[in-house]
Amino acid sequence: MAVNKDMGTTAEELIARSNRLGADPKNTNYAGGNTSAKGTATDPVTGEDVELLWVKGSGGDLGTLKESGLAVLRLDRMRALVDVYPGVEREDEMVAAFDYCLHGKGGAAPSIDTAMHGLVEAAHVDHLHPDSGIAIATAADGENLTKEIFGDQVVWVPWRRPGFQLGLDIAEIKAKNSQAVGCVLGGHGITAWGDTSEEAEKNSLWIIDTAAAYIEKHSRAEPFGPALDGYQPLPEGERRTKAAALAPTIRGIASADQPMVGHFDDSEVVLDFLASEDHPRLAELGTSCPDHFLRTKVKPLVLDLPATASVEESIARLKELAVGYREDYQAYYDRHADEASPAIRGKDPLIVLVPGVGMFSFGKNKQTARVAGEFYLNAINVMRGAEGLSTYAPIEESEKFRIEYWALEEAKLQRMPAPKPLATRVALVTGAASGIGKATAKRLAAEGACVVIADLDLAKAEATAAEIGGPDVAVGLAADVSDEAAVQAMFDAAVLAFGGVDLVVNNAGLSLSKSLLETTERDWDLQHDVMAKGSFLVSKAAAKVLIEQEMGGDIVYISSKNSLFAGPNNVAYGAAKADQAHQVRLLAAELGAYGIKVNGINPDGVVQGSGIFAGGWGAKRAEVYGVPEEELGKFYAQRTLLKREVLPENIANAVFVLCGPDLTHTTGLHVPVDAGVAAAFLR
Ligand SMILES: NC(=O)c1ccc[n+]([C@@H]2O[C@H](COP(=O)([O-])OP(=O)(O)OC[C@H]3O[C@@H](n4cnc5c(N)ncnc54)[C@H](O)[C@@H]3O)[C@@H](O)[C@H]2O)c1
Ligand SMILES: [Zn+2]
Repeated sequence: MAVNKDMGTTAEELIARSNRLGADPKNTNYAGGNTSAKGTATDPVTGEDVELLWVKGSGGDLGTLKESGLAVLRLDRMRALVDVYPGVEREDEMVAAFDYCLHGKGGAAPSIDTAMHGLVEAAHVDHLHPDSGIAIATAADGENLTKEIFGDQVVWVPWRRPGFQLGLDIAEIKAKNSQAVGCVLGGHGITAWGDTSEEAEKNSLWIIDTAAAYIEKHSRAEPFGPALDGYQPLPEGERRTKAAALAPTIRGIASADQPMVGHFDDSEVVLDFLASEDHPRLAELGTSCPDHFLRTKVKPLVLDLPATASVEESIARLKELAVGYREDYQAYYDRHADEASPAIRGKDPLIVLVPGVGMFSFGKNKQTARVAGEFYLNAINVMRGAEGLSTYAPIEESEKFRIEYWALEEAKLQRMPAPKPLATRVALVTGAASGIGKATAKRLAAEGACVVIADLDLAKAEATAAEIGGPDVAVGLAADVSDEAAVQAMFDAAVLAFGGVDLVVNNAGLSLSKSLLETTERDWDLQHDVMAKGSFLVSKAAAKVLIEQEMGGDIVYISSKNSLFAGPNNVAYGAAKADQAHQVRLLAAELGAYGIKVNGINPDGVVQGSGIFAGGWGAKRAEVYGVPEEELGKFYAQRTLLKREVLPENIANAVFVLCGPDLTHTTGLHVPVDAGVAAAFLR
């Protein structure tokens, strides 16, 4: 066995190989698989050479693996574990024993697959989850196919749950088959090895590409069966409209036990699968690769209606199916759980498939929801390959359960950091590309919410979203809140982006400072269209989603001190703000029955960052009060009780408090954020 004497180079080479392999989705699914290299380094304690194993640790993705993601173990101690191994019944205990094999601080936590890497006598080992390889691994005659495709170069290993015993099995196979470059792990994936890093990588890619080419050449024409009448994809516009109309119901179903964020995918892979005769049978069989079960659950919920079914019909049927899904899941848990099993983790589906429309996937944040969807795409590819050559035969249900409710997985879940206060909540903020709206969107995202940034200008909305985080955190949309169709389109896009909506901030606004006699009919209409009517339209569209989700919700109005205070030259603005303020009370009364809280905030004198002030209002107000425009913030501060300038962040803080974990029993409230203006005290 060739070993590499330079510690830096071994790890660097391994990282580079891992990143190359992980960058191409054909090689492995997200965060799936692991790689390793053995080499020699100097033991700082003895000054002598020591043989080490660098292996991808628990969690993380090969495509973005860094040195900090590697576990480093002493090979002499790893090999010694074989002598104390108590047998397959107690193999999980070996994971704790890995901690006693670490070199120095050991880097990342060793994963369950560490044994496979350490025990196989090869300097470089790759364990991967390629769709093509898993297709062979889950084919009913996978063993024969492996022989036929690879001859004696690749060896079949019957299904076994990952762990110490699987490591021993593969080590033995490698020892007994000197001609072999790797193996197909039944129901699971592939493992390949080499004396050099290049050789391991070459062997991995050869297995993956050879399997894919074989499937391509030998697959029957319609692996999922003939086309199903009425199940063909709807045209894109219609499809998206229907998806948006169904999204709140589906999110509610997925969130019955725990609130979830959603992801929507209507790619060809999904729509093709759902348009073929065999999709109900295959979906029922569920996924196979071990890392799928926590992400996608054993099987998806599939709407058993054609693409042409109406929204109402689909909603009614989805609700029936959800009841059945929960009963099935409970029965699955009861069939397999024993006293040692972790408690049931929620009975709702994580993948919901709607023929002609697409796939909704769910998770505790957007990234997890998106990856769950990616995993189901992997599962579809695997089923297509396996059915094309043979019959798809995933691992036994009892084995699926052993993985899903594995004590080691449960321990990993328990170690996860506590979620942020607004985790799983989807916020939509209007006028969020500037001033108070932008500060609010930032704060909500920082507290764990997904945010939709809606504003008049798409480029500005997208720039704000990008500033706050990538598409897993924030998306930017263009919408004029005074236009009913635009508001509906905004909610449609929002529910497709994150599965639903929970928290809506009516912030969009503008301000004209004019006396009664100067105020034109257009001025009046504009102020009322954007603020009074705009927030009415937004609240109405929001309520439709919130009520359908049955998950409660929050609507917050950014009203104004001027909703109460009769400031000078302010008739159109002040009256529109008073209208908004009364909407808060009216809607709090009307929507309380659905668990929807409606509250308002009365800011005043927020000059910094405010487009309203920069756009002429500031100059006008400065003129009204007889101060220079650049002094306006200070002027406002001086007339407050606290003598403090009010910043956009102060309003954002109030929004968070109203919607956060503490003020759960407050609705119909207005919170002044004005540094104290006695004339605008609420009574
Ligand atoms: N700045 C203050 O002192 C103050 C005081 C009280 C109330 N408010 C209220 O706070 C809210 C935000 O004000 P700001 O100071 O941050 O102003 P801002 O101008 O910085 O932000 C308002 C945003 O709303 C957007 N907008 C305007 N019309 C829209 C429409 N029809 N559809 C969608 N978006 C639209 C604008 O493009 C802008 O990005 C407004 O409702 C305002 O009346 C502000
Ligand atoms: Zn694996």
